[in-house]
Amino acid sequence: MDCETNILKITDLHKSYPLRKGLSLPVLQGIDIKIKAGEMTAVMGASGCGKTTLINVISGVDRADSGSIIIEDTEITNMNKSQMAIFRRNHIGLIFQDFNLLESLNVKDNILLPLILDKNFSHGEELLQKLAAILSIEGITDKYITDISGGEKQRAAIARALINSPQIILADEPTGSLDAKSAKDVMEYLTTINQELQATLLMVTHDTFAASFCHKVILLKEGKIASVLEKGDKSRSIFLEHIYEFLKQIGGE
Ligand SMILES: Nc1ncnc2c1ncn2[C@@H]1O[C@H](COP(=O)(O)OP(=O)(O)OP(=O)(O)O)[C@@H](O)[C@H]1O
Ligand SMILES: [Mg+2]
Repeated sequence: MDCETNILKITDLHKSYPLRKGLSLPVLQGIDIKIKAGEMTAVMGASGCGKTTLINVISGVDRADSGSIIIEDTEITNMNKSQMAIFRRNHIGLIFQDFNLLESLNVKDNILLPLILDKNFSHGEELLQKLAAILSIEGITDKYITDISGGEKQRAAIARALINSPQIILADEPTGSLDAKSAKDVMEYLTTINQELQATLLMVTHDTFAASFCHKVILLKEGKIASVLEKGDKSRSIFLEHIYEFLKQIGGE
């Protein structure tokens, strides 16, 4: 396939954090990633290897030191904060481990919030109904966040991430706060969304089971990509074993 189908293209990305006495902690040390439209990709690696840093730099929450990040056709590394905030709202869907929903609003208003912020209501209600149906949350849209379960919160957060029809969804440990059953549900819903809406997803996870739902698993080690595993035509359960064995061999988790 040619590079025009890449939704995300990251080239030679570097990011370090300043330490005391002028020293710095190198975290991302030359990362190259290409994600095609409609792909589901997981990034795995030991705690502290830079997974959240990678998501924060791609979403523009944090800045890279050098390298290039192109989302669709737009280079985002040289945008200023306010340009990035607008770009993020319109082109990127974010899903977090702890959901980041507003407890003072009900499910429906949480989902519609990105549109309210952009004063863009044109297809909101229609898309809300469609997403709520796919995610099986039609019955709880009037409920407050405090009155729903963790799995329901994450499904509401997925709907909120999709309401702006983003080019790419970035998720940081989307199953990290969920029990095994809710984690499986969330991954199945994300798979349905990927298939029905051709949504492109990049998620970081510790969870081999969650990663096995993806087309591709990227393993980070010491700030670099250690390897890339492709699901190919393997079943999910065979891919799960494959990832598990691989992690055991490289001692990546
Ligand atoms: N704002 C910061 N300032 C300084 N160091 C940081 C900052 N954020 C993260 N780090 C350090 O950078 C490294 C990578 O952190 P990051 O949060 O990206 O890891 P991670 O792979 O997401 O880990 P986990 O799996 O535990 O979530 C860690 O050593 C961490 O301590
Ligand atoms: Mg993290």
